[in-house]
Amino acid sequence: MQFGSMGRGDYYASPFGIAYSTYMERPRLSGLVAWLVWGGDVRPYYESMAAIAKAAPDSTIVDCPCGAGPALRALRPGQGIRYVAVDLSPSMLRRARRRVDRRDLQGVELLHADAARIPLPAESADLFLSYWGLHCFPDPPAALAEAARILRPGGRLVGAALVKGRDNLRQRLLIRPWRGDFGRVGTAAEVSDWLEAAGFADPQIERSGPMLFFAAQLPSRDRENPG
Ligand SMILES: C[S@@+](CC[C@H](N)C(=O)[O-])C[C@H]1O[C@@H](n2cnc3c(N)ncnc32)[C@H](O)[C@@H]1O
Repeated sequence: MQFGSMGRGDYYASPFGIAYSTYMERPRLSGLVAWLVWGGDVRPYYESMAAIAKAAPDSTIVDCPCGAGPALRALRPGQGIRYVAVDLSPSMLRRARRRVDRRDLQGVELLHADAARIPLPAESADLFLSYWGLHCFPDPPAALAEAARILRPGGRLVGAALVKGRDNLRQRLLIRPWRGDFGRVGTAAEVSDWLEAAGFADPQIERSGPMLFFAAQLPSRDRENPG
């Protein structure tokens, strides 16, 4: 099992984890926190969840790390999706379970697993969500390679992460790799390189302060074997 922020036990069982889970489920509150703390606009995160609402019946979505399940807001009861929510924190998984039960969502499986070793078969998912996890992991390139393994050819990755850099005061003051819930934190350029190294084509990247929003797609089988 790989540890980053989780090397010190269940970091998210703390008051920080409770506060974090509370505001992330509330876009307006989360927007205020993001603006005050990070000096950026978090709306692209919530907007990108439209990919969940648009997923076709019978498709499979993997949400890793799922945290307390803020992305479940975009899943409609009866949508007919297999939704696999993965996290290393038992307390976050318990919060996500409560969310699933409260909303009476079907087809949601919760998995206690490391982002770099998810017990799912290769080419078994259509959409992979990687929200605010890369900066917590000890080995983000390994987590992106795992997402690419699990996605089918043509499958989509949608995500967000905090990035380090020197162009922003908050980045310099608040982003401390290997402290708090941070693991190995990359720069925006590194995240882009990691996406390409994992096999994702033409990543679309948007920045707001230290917040990076990304979407990318694996090449489809036709592009791999032209003719
Ligand atoms: C900042 S939270 C993001 C949660 C959620 N995606 C969201 O949008 O709020 C980071 C999450 O990563 C999880 N995590 C940290 N290291 C992990 C690892 N190696 N494998 C899987 N999950 C991990 C934590 O337990 C936590 O739930």
